[in-house]
Amino acid sequence: MHTKQEILEKLTGIQSSRKSYYSELVYLIEEMKKKNKQLAVINQLTQIQINATWQQTTSYIAAQLSQILIFEHFALTIVKGGMLSSYLATWNDGDWQCHTLTQNIAVEAHVLTEQVHLTIAEVLPEHHATSVPLRSQLNQTFGFLTLLRQTKQPVDRDEAELIQLVASHIGVVVENSLLFQDVNEKIKIEAQLIQSAKMAAIGEMAAGIAHELNSPLTAILGNSQLLMREMTDAPEAPLMKDIYQCGVRCKKIIQNLLTFSRQEEYLFSTTSIDEVVEDVLGLIGYQLSVSGLTITREMYEPPLLFHGSRHQIEQIVINLLLNARDAVAGKEAPHIVIRSFLVQEENSSYVGLSVYDNGTGICEEQLSQIFQPFFSTKERTKGTGLGLSVSLGIAEAHGGKLFAESVEGEYSKFTMLLPLLADEEDNDGEKTDFDRG
Ligand SMILES: Nc1ncnc2c1ncn2[C@@H]1O[C@H](COP(=O)(O)OP(=O)(O)OP(=O)(O)O)[C@@H](O)[C@H]1O
Ligand SMILES: [Mg+2]
Repeated sequence: MHTKQEILEKLTGIQSSRKSYYSELVYLIEEMKKKNKQLAVINQLTQIQINATWQQTTSYIAAQLSQILIFEHFALTIVKGGMLSSYLATWNDGDWQCHTLTQNIAVEAHVLTEQVHLTIAEVLPEHHATSVPLRSQLNQTFGFLTLLRQTKQPVDRDEAELIQLVASHIGVVVENSLLFQDVNEKIKIEAQLIQSAKMAAIGEMAAGIAHELNSPLTAILGNSQLLMREMTDAPEAPLMKDIYQCGVRCKKIIQNLLTFSRQEEYLFSTTSIDEVVEDVLGLIGYQLSVSGLTITREMYEPPLLFHGSRHQIEQIVINLLLNARDAVAGKEAPHIVIRSFLVQEENSSYVGLSVYDNGTGICEEQLSQIFQPFFSTKERTKGTGLGLSVSLGIAEAHGGKLFAESVEGEYSKFTMLLPLLADEEDNDGEKTDFDRG
């Protein structure tokens, strides 16, 4: 800033010229405006949402930076766990649109800027890239900001300083987002552990009860069979038959409980989805049907096979069916449809299983939250909010997927996809569209 004396000199001294003074003033004002704009943008950059996706973050940064820097494309690269992912934002249709350039490319521990440039050059070979690393307090590189220009414009000193300043601010935000992701992941794992522990406890308890009940049941079944034989023509015979049949039912349930609680069931084996559904309905089918709902099964022929833990997949189906039961409570003509089908995508095939119910449905806002641990709309005593998050964890651990679609007040449909066992002879069914029904 000029001092008063300097200004006076300019106005009255030998070099005085109103013109040069005013043009300098105009220049200064322009510079101040520019600096103000830069400060405003930097301030905006610190307001990036911590839970936004990397694509959203990239588009946001591109939109902000385009106000103070010139570039055609912008890339944010994240280095995490020895993997490198680049997100490229491009101006399109009046908006900065982002797509993931590379995903999970294993890189050396020390990531070089050139590696980032090489990756981007595969998509934008004609562009000139300028990158700055994002560094943590411990001086570890966890990402890069890259500006891409069509012409090879050298970056001047002011611009280089500005990019560095921007990188230091974005670095803090990106580091926070990475931390947030880690913590979130931890919470999810913890929730899964709690649920697993809960399931293990229930399993143990069920096994104990099943063993206890097994002996008296054997007596009930044996004795009622003996009595049935003796009183074939007696008027009480139908009653006796009823006792016997109920006993058989109980025995079946107990058998299922024992299978369900067996720890070795966590081992992966070749399993058919039909068997899973059969077992689960044996276990909770009665419980479902007493609540007045109808269950329809539409199973793909021949039965589809997958490689996985039967017990864990059963756990998913049980979770989905119990949720469906809760959703149809109080509905007119409640029904659930369980359907298995084959999905053939370009490089992979899946065993699909969907559970449809005509219950309350899920509103759009909640649909994006239901897989989060502890998200529940049920009373505390009724739901922990862990069923779906644990189910999703299991499906993903099997290389599969679990997703939901729903129209509030009409229906919900949960679909589980598991990699089809790559045995052409076992599963040579025709192609089907998995959106059917
Ligand atoms: N079929 C469905 N129809 C309507 N809403 C559903 C359905 N399945 C899940 N939801 C919603 O998703 C929420 C989360 O389900 P999730 O199974 O994870 O937990 P929960 O059933 O509440 O508790 P629990 O841990 O006992 O399973 C439910 O509280 C419910 O609001
Ligand atoms: Mg549930």
